[in-house]
Amino acid sequence: CGIVGYIGCGKTTEVLLDSLGRLEYRGYDSAGIAVVNGDGVEIIKSAERIARLKEQVPKTLMSSVGIGHTRWATHGKPSQANAHPHRDCTGRIAVVHNGIIENYQELKKELQARGHVFTSETDTEVISHLVEEYYTGNTLRAILEAVQHLRGSFAFALINKDEPDQIIAARKESPLVIGIGDDQFFLASDVTAFLRYTRRAVFLDDGDIAILTPHGLSIKDFNGNSVLREVRIIEWDLEAAEKSGYEHFMLKEIHEQPKSLKDVLSGRINELTGDVELPEIKLTQEQINDIRRIVIVACGTSYHAGLAGKYVLEMLTDVPVSVEIGSEFRYSSSRTDHHTLIIALSQSGETADTAASVKDAVKKGAYVIAVTNTVGSTIARESQSTIYMRCGPEIGVAATKTFTSQLAVMYLLSIYLGRRRNTLNAYNAMKLLSDLKNLPRDAQAVLDQSEAIASYAKIFSRANLFLFVGRHLNYPVALEGALKLKEISYIFSEGFAAGELKHGPLALLTTGVPVIAITTKSPTYEKMISNIKEIKARDASVIAIASEGDEAISQLVDVVIRVPDVGEIVSPILSSIVLQLFAYHVAVCTGCPIDKPRNLAKSVTVE
Ligand code: G6P
Repeated sequence: CGIVGYIGCGKTTEVLLDSLGRLEYRGYDSAGIAVVNGDGVEIIKSAERIARLKEQVPKTLMSSVGIGHTRWATHGKPSQANAHPHRDCTGRIAVVHNGIIENYQELKKELQARGHVFTSETDTEVISHLVEEYYTGNTLRAILEAVQHLRGSFAFALINKDEPDQIIAARKESPLVIGIGDDQFFLASDVTAFLRYTRRAVFLDDGDIAILTPHGLSIKDFNGNSVLREVRIIEWDLEAAEKSGYEHFMLKEIHEQPKSLKDVLSGRINELTGDVELPEIKLTQEQINDIRRIVIVACGTSYHAGLAGKYVLEMLTDVPVSVEIGSEFRYSSSRTDHHTLIIALSQSGETADTAASVKDAVKKGAYVIAVTNTVGSTIARESQSTIYMRCGPEIGVAATKTFTSQLAVMYLLSIYLGRRRNTLNAYNAMKLLSDLKNLPRDAQAVLDQSEAIASYAKIFSRANLFLFVGRHLNYPVALEGALKLKEISYIFSEGFAAGELKHGPLALLTTGVPVIAITTKSPTYEKMISNIKEIKARDASVIAIASEGDEAISQLVDVVIRVPDVGEIVSPILSSIVLQLFAYHVAVCTGCPIDKPRNLAKSVTVE
C-alpha cells in the first residue's frame, strides 16, 4: 500500500491525487482520500484504481489538510468498505495505513466490547477506533497512547476535524517520509510521491511520530520526547520518475540500463590497482578474514540476482555461500552468528520478509550488507552497511534495471571480498573489471536489437507454455527470464537448470513448445549444446541466446539472439536484457497491463 498526506494551500485534493498516482506501483486494488472540509472530515473512496477516484472527487472540494491511500489488499477483499481512509465512530477521525496490525483481532474485540462499531474487515480500522478511545481533546496524546497497544508494522497518517490544522503520522517498520516545501508539507510512503513539489525530505525512523502543521514539522518518539531528523536533498529529477515518451515504464526502464549500469559502477572501479572501492562497507580486514559463511537473503527477482551472486562469490572467494528466500530464512534454524556475512538484496529496501531476516540476523551478531535502490529504506537502516544501486526510481512492477544493477553490485562485492581474502589476484580482477566497465556499451548493443527481439516475441506470443533453461550462472538468468514473462504476460513459464530437463521437464515438451536456451560462451557451453539437442529431439522450438561469433549454434536451433562476446561473469546481465525485452514484447502482443500486472505489487511490505 501507499499513503500520502498534504497540509498547505487549498489545492489539497489535487496534490493528494497526483501523489497517489505516483504510488500506484505499491498497490492499486482501491484508493481513497480524506480531507478536512469546513467543520467535518470528508472521505471519498473508490473500489477501483486512482483514475476512477479522480473522477469522483468534486473539483470544488477545497481544503488545506488531507490524507490519501492506494491499497494492496491484505485483510479483507478489495472493496469500497475496505478501501482507506477509515473513520472512528464519531466521524471526526480518518486514518490511512500501510503495514499490518498483527493484534488487530484482539484489539477489535476489546473495542467492540466497549461499543465501537466497525464497518470494514481491515486491520487498519482498529487504529481509528483506538485513537478515538484515548481521545480527550488532544490527538497527539491519544496517538501516543494508541501506538503502545499496536503490534506489527505500520506507517499511518491521521487527521481529526477537531484539530483541523494538523496531520499526525507514525512509523514502525513501514516506510514513511516527509517532504518539506515552502509553507506546505507532504508525507508519503516514498519520495517519488512529492518530488514534483519539493526535493527536501526527512526519512522517519521506526518509533517516530511526525506532527505536520502549516507552520512546521516536529518529530517525537513514541514516548513523546522530541527527536531531530536530518533533512536530505533528493537528487532524482521528476523526468526520471515519468515515462519520457515510452509506452510503458517497463520499456523505459529497460532502455535506461546503459545509464543505470554506468551509475552503479561509477567511482567503484579502480583499474590501476585491480580493485573495487566500496567505502560504504565498514568491515575491518580482521572481520573480513573472519567470515566463515555468506548468506544472501532476498525475494522475487532479487533472489535470482542472489543466486547469480552465489556463483560469482564462490568463484572469487573461498567462502561457502547460500542463497535464501526471505520468507523461508526468517523462520529457519540457520546458525547465523558473528562469522556470518549476510547480504540482503532488495530493490525497494522494504520487502517485509527480507527486512525481518535482516533484523533477526543483526540480533544474532551477523554483519549485514544491504544492496538496495532506496535511500533511507528500512533494510538500509537496519543493516551495518548499504550499497546503493543508484538506478533512480523503478516504477514498473516487474524489476528490470534494478535486477541488472543488483548483479553488477554482486560482482563488485565478490571482487572486493576476493581481493581482500587474497583469493583473487589483481590481474584477474582487472580482466573482470574491464568487462564490467564495458557493460553500458554492451547493454546498448543488446538494446539496439530491440526490433528483432520484438519480432521473435510476436512469432511465439501465442504459445501457452515457455521453458527457460541455462547452466551455472545462466541458470538464474533462466529463472529470471521465466519470472519476467509469467508476471507480465500471464503465460505459464518456468526456468530450469538445463541438466534437470531429463528429470521431469522433458515430459512437457511437444512440437513447437518454445524453449529459451541461454547458451552464451562459458565452461558449460558444450553441455548446453547437448541439452539443446535433447530438446530438439522432442520437436520443441529453441530460441538460443548466444555469444557473437558463435556461428555453429545457428544450425541447431530455430532462432538465435546474439549478445556481445564477453566473459561468462558479465554475460548474464546482457542475456537478461534480451529476456526482459522478449517478455515485454510478448506481453504487448497478449495485451496485458504491463506496468501493473494483476495481483502483484512492486513493494511487498507485508509478510
Ligand atoms: C515484488 C516485486 C518484484 C520484486 C520482489 C522483491 O514481488 O513485484 O519485482 O523482485 O517484490 O522486492 P525487493 O524490493 O525486495 O527487491
